[in-house]
Amino acid sequence: MKVKVCMGSNCTLLGAMDLLDQIEDLKKLTSEDDNYSDDFDIEVVKCLGFCKKSKDNVAPVVVIDDEILFNATGQIVMEKIMSKKKK
Ligand code: FES
Repeated sequence: MKVKVCMGSNCTLLGAMDLLDQIEDLKKLTSEDDNYSDDFDIEVVKCLGFCKKSKDNVAPVVVIDDEILFNATGQIVMEKIMSKKKK
């Protein structure tokens, strides 16, 4: 699984840094737990362009595999990752 966290200026202003911290903590925790399947990669990316295309606020943006999460919150991102990681 690949988790991309947008660190463009809009997403950073709206909390992408906190999200990244939470995702890194989750990765550390779950990598030590045998109840969860394979590990995931975290990739920090520059502006994905969604904030410029949309009139509405979409930041912060997180992409989990092919799924794009707009207005991502820690809870939503954690739930998505955990549901994909569960055996
Ligand atoms: S800054 Fe994240 S989509 Fe533009």
